Amino acid sequence: MDIGENGAEFVVVANRLPVDLERLPDGTERWKHSPGGLVSALEPFLRSHSGAWVGWPGVSDTEVAPFEDDGLLLHPVELSAKEVEDYYEGFSNGTLWPLYHDVVAQPAFHRHWWNTYVKVNQRFADATAKVAAQGATVWVQDYQLQLVPAMLREQRPDLKIGFFLHIPFPPVELFMQLPWRTEIIRGLLGADLVGFHRPGGAQNFLWLARRLVGLEPSRGTVGVRTRPGVVQVGDRTVRVGAFPISIDSAGLDAVARRKDTQARARQIREDLGNPKRILLGVDRLDYTKGIDVRIRALYELIADGRVDPEDVAMIQLATPSRERVDHYKTMRQDIEQSVGRINGEFGRVGKPVVHYLHQSVNREELVAFMSAADVMVVTPVRDGMNLVCKEYVACRYDLGGALVLSEFAGAAAELTSAFLVNPHDLDGVKNALQAALDIDPAEGRRRMRALRRQVLTHDVDRWARSFLEALGTQTSV
Ligand code: ADP
Ligand code: G6P
Repeated sequence: MDIGENGAEFVVVANRLPVDLERLPDGTERWKHSPGGLVSALEPFLRSHSGAWVGWPGVSDTEVAPFEDDGLLLHPVELSAKEVEDYYEGFSNGTLWPLYHDVVAQPAFHRHWWNTYVKVNQRFADATAKVAAQGATVWVQDYQLQLVPAMLREQRPDLKIGFFLHIPFPPVELFMQLPWRTEIIRGLLGADLVGFHRPGGAQNFLWLARRLVGLEPSRGTVGVRTRPGVVQVGDRTVRVGAFPISIDSAGLDAVARRKDTQARARQIREDLGNPKRILLGVDRLDYTKGIDVRIRALYELIADGRVDPEDVAMIQLATPSRERVDHYKTMRQDIEQSVGRINGEFGRVGKPVVHYLHQSVNREELVAFMSAADVMVVTPVRDGMNLVCKEYVACRYDLGGALVLSEFAGAAAELTSAFLVNPHDLDGVKNALQAALDIDPAEGRRRMRALRRQVLTHDVDRWARSFLEALGTQTSV
């Protein structure tokens, strides 16, 4: 697909660009990979198909000219420090994120945050209107940009507009708390296709289109990648469907099979003192991820005498995230305290129980950690999909390892051969952890084979193709 003189035929719009501008203490700047699942999933797809990407470069008050990065045209949108505070940290991550994740933290409703959200969404829509070619396909991503579809359609009715929500769409009772609920639904209805991970999200959206906008949506059950709901908005038909996102499964499988990756995995085990079992957690440091749940479960298993601390080592990788938002500050303190507690009580010199790294690691290193881990622990209290669990499965070509997965991750509907747990039930999490630690190797292989069948056949390419086909776009873009 070409980015012709008249604009790009295929444009992704997301709050973040796939790369983040980083200012180092010596004043120099460099681009690094952006955090989070949205970029992990979309980047490999976009890089292999080319197109344009409109997004924020991750630092405030910095004008960056459009540039090309490995065949992808990046169009930075500038945000001031105050806009970052009110639109990104405020309305996106202090209102919408907790509201859409089952109110596990209290959302705050502030009119000045909302006003900035509207203003910034308009800026993204304006930037996209300039970049897109006549009749182009524009794919708007995630909760930060829910007003963009309608704002863009207003300026560019010629465009084919898709929207995909990467986080859960909440139960209608919770969504109805939002003072600006009707504006959000109208914003999304500007798209030709609105996509969610799960059919439940699509059904909730259709119900709200009836209740808040007075439309007459279809009443049939929405399927996974099939039977989208439809709703007539004036002379347009908007489709509403479920498209569970995934990962570059074959790419990770190939990295895992490399000799250097396996050597690094062995090295990691050795560095840990060759424990009988390695447990691994990999997350953005976010209160929805249930990092505290898994540390508490391990603490109690050791305290109960069911697990010997000499036999296990747990690694928790936690990417720094949204560090200026209050809920995140509190949660970081709580987690670091619980790591201190378990190590203080059950560790010894040179052998802590939990190795906690508040850092991001590169892809090769991540695959090595996943290859080394006997038990991957994924315990979010709510997660739209969760890619980490799928990445673990993609890395285990050896059919080794066991996955403990929360029922409240979207991925649980697909990864049914994992040890599924309710993260609110601590005894249940403890039992599942112990079962995963003690799994019979033949049973482990059986489960992992079933998990891999799912993850390798349902990769991110299939996700993107199914969405774009439903949107009526040629998938050769
Ligand atoms: P979210 O999008 O909420 O962060 P996901 O599980 O869907 O959650 O995606 C997280 C992505 O970030 C995955 O691709 C995962 O591998 C990556 N990731 C998370 N923590 C780290 C880390 N410490 N180092 C490197 N990558 C990480
Ligand atoms: C989740 C969201 C993304 C977001 C990512 C990282 O995956 O769905 O939209 O980009 O987290 O969060 P951040 O706030 O750093 O962009």
